[in-house]
Amino acid sequence: MSTVSQLGLSETAAFALETAREAAALVMGILPESSAEKQVRLKTATDLVTRADHEAERLIAARIRARFPDHGLLGEEGTANDGSGPCWVVDPVDGTANFAHGIPWFAVSIALEDRGAVQCGVIAVPPLDEYFVTERGRGAYLLGAGAEPVRLAVSETADLGAALMATGLPREPDRSWHVQTIGPLILRSLEVRIMGAAAIHLAYLAAGRLDAFWEPGLQPWDVAAGVLMVEEAGGRISDWSGRPLVSLKTELLASNGPLHPAMVQMLAGYSRAHSPG
Ligand code: IPD
Ligand code: CA
Ligand code: CA
Repeated sequence: MSTVSQLGLSETAAFALETAREAAALVMGILPESSAEKQVRLKTATDLVTRADHEAERLIAARIRARFPDHGLLGEEGTANDGSGPCWVVDPVDGTANFAHGIPWFAVSIALEDRGAVQCGVIAVPPLDEYFVTERGRGAYLLGAGAEPVRLAVSETADLGAALMATGLPREPDRSWHVQTIGPLILRSLEVRIMGAAAIHLAYLAAGRLDAFWEPGLQPWDVAAGVLMVEEAGGRISDWSGRPLVSLKTELLASNGPLHPAMVQMLAGYSRAHSPG
């Protein structure tokens, strides 16, 4: 029996994990290459892309099409298959700026959305050989190299002053309004990290390594797997005003739960009435 089925996770989750492992190996093979070989280029003024992003997305899309020909697909690098039923949401490399600069801190994120909600997701962190996997109603787990699977649970930190939190820099031309949220939280919390991979921030929150995470202007592929991971680990997800998310394209606030009211208090005043695009 595979580890995934021993944990009570479905064949679909096992497929997502296997596919993420394959993509992780591909991306790790490209990591040591020079910038020229990686074909690093700017997609927009604040957004990089490399050959690894494209190759990993092609690989993941091919595996999904072969196994689930009727499913839809939404990939950051442009793969889009319509469908009214289940849809895979894929970020082939989350943390591309780190990857492009040779910093071993990035993820592969694969999620399956169905009936208006994410049903399962995997966040692979290839340089650490860590695989975070989750399925709705069945929990969230860390499968590490050669170690027993660990069921994820968020931290119990209730004091903002003791909280280790993370944010990210949105891919928007004007980041100045988001920058205003960071100063106050640096002053009130233990510390703030900007590690450059939203999917890892969310997986780490689920694992109790971080206590809260906020970022505006995220895209579904950045957060689909991570949002379910946090919820299945007992954390809370909302927009910056504390309202339930109506879309995965939003100002996101994720926390361990006890910190949520304090985070909403810090952020609500900065919330834009309408999230970008
Ligand atoms: C980005 C990373 C980054 C976050 C950005 C994302 P990418 O994704 O997750 O941490 O701040 O908002 O776009 O471009 O590396 O896949
Ligand atoms: Ca990406
Ligand atoms: Ca991303």
